[in-house]
Amino acid sequence: MLSPSASQQRLVAVRRSLERIDAAAVVFGLSANMRYLTGFSDEPGERMLALVVPRDGEPTMIVPELYADQVRAFAPACNMRVWGDGEDPTSIVGDVAQELEAQTGRLLLDNTLWTAIALPWERAFPGRDVGLASEIMTELRMRKIPEEIDCMQRAGEITDRALEDALSRPIGGRTELELARHLEWAMLDRGADGVAFETLVASGSNSAFPHYRAGQRRIESGDVVIMDFGCRVGGYCSDITRTVTCGEVSAEVNDAYDVVREAHATARDHAERGVPAQEVDRAARRVLAEAGYGDAFCHRTGHGVGLDVHEPPYIVEGNSTNLEPGMAFSIEPGVYFSGSFGVRLEDVVIVTEGGAKPLTEAPRELRAVE
Ligand code: CO
Ligand code: CO
Repeated sequence: MLSPSASQQRLVAVRRSLERIDAAAVVFGLSANMRYLTGFSDEPGERMLALVVPRDGEPTMIVPELYADQVRAFAPACNMRVWGDGEDPTSIVGDVAQELEAQTGRLLLDNTLWTAIALPWERAFPGRDVGLASEIMTELRMRKIPEEIDCMQRAGEITDRALEDALSRPIGGRTELELARHLEWAMLDRGADGVAFETLVASGSNSAFPHYRAGQRRIESGDVVIMDFGCRVGGYCSDITRTVTCGEVSAEVNDAYDVVREAHATARDHAERGVPAQEVDRAARRVLAEAGYGDAFCHRTGHGVGLDVHEPPYIVEGNSTNLEPGMAFSIEPGVYFSGSFGVRLEDVVIVTEGGAKPLTEAPRELRAVE
């Protein structure tokens, strides 16, 4: 749980950012941003639960009645306006808009705000330019403080151990979903709050789909199997990918994997303080291109990780953000051959004064499992 004083500090930082970019207010929905600022979180839903932070004035939460006690307990740093089922929260939005009328500047909306919740806000501020909350939140959330890194480290350790557990039994004959559920159960059993995202287990030709999930296909001898999974501790995510084989596979698979592993190591070596994020992407891409796999690498090299499993900094061409200590992101090169197979290797790293430190350490060689 976030302490009331930490929450206050973060809310003050938001107000300073609003001042700096001359915005009137920012509205958050149930999101990682709300959790970061107040300590309160839940799945987003159709009921309006919003946090309004004005440039001048106190932050207010608009809260459905059934959440009132919970918000008081978990987000004590905010004023509340409570509405009941059967009432229309649009009138509260109108009241808040009226109070903010004298404040000039744009209205920022949470990037993940449901349209059904964003529209009343946009309509209540006619003629105002609307922007995205990421304009101020990226800067605040991108460098992790030690408490956040602790959570991410624990999530990484649990993830490593869950992989060992899942691979301690033969994978041949199990379905992708069975293996996925084993990984998830093993993470929860070791103290994770929950999974960070739906576990991906892609076997055989399914491994050629970079974002396949997991299905009823049974893993058989000769398959490549990609497992991409993670958990949460204190709200913070882990994210790992390991590729294994069920028994022996072709030289083609081994060759592709060796190059991906080299791209991963090279990218990690480049991930140092002061280096633009895009240089890490270029480093991985260069290794793959030189080995003739340039066209088979169809996604960015990585993404930031924190309270969201995908967040800034993105490790991609065009991102000139300089890496700084405390930034956490994935390095996950992969190659995919449609209808045949794919391989990927992923770890989340934290930038430190001494280079990029991985949060997961499961063996990185291509393992053959029965
Ligand atoms: Co992943
Ligand atoms: Co990832």
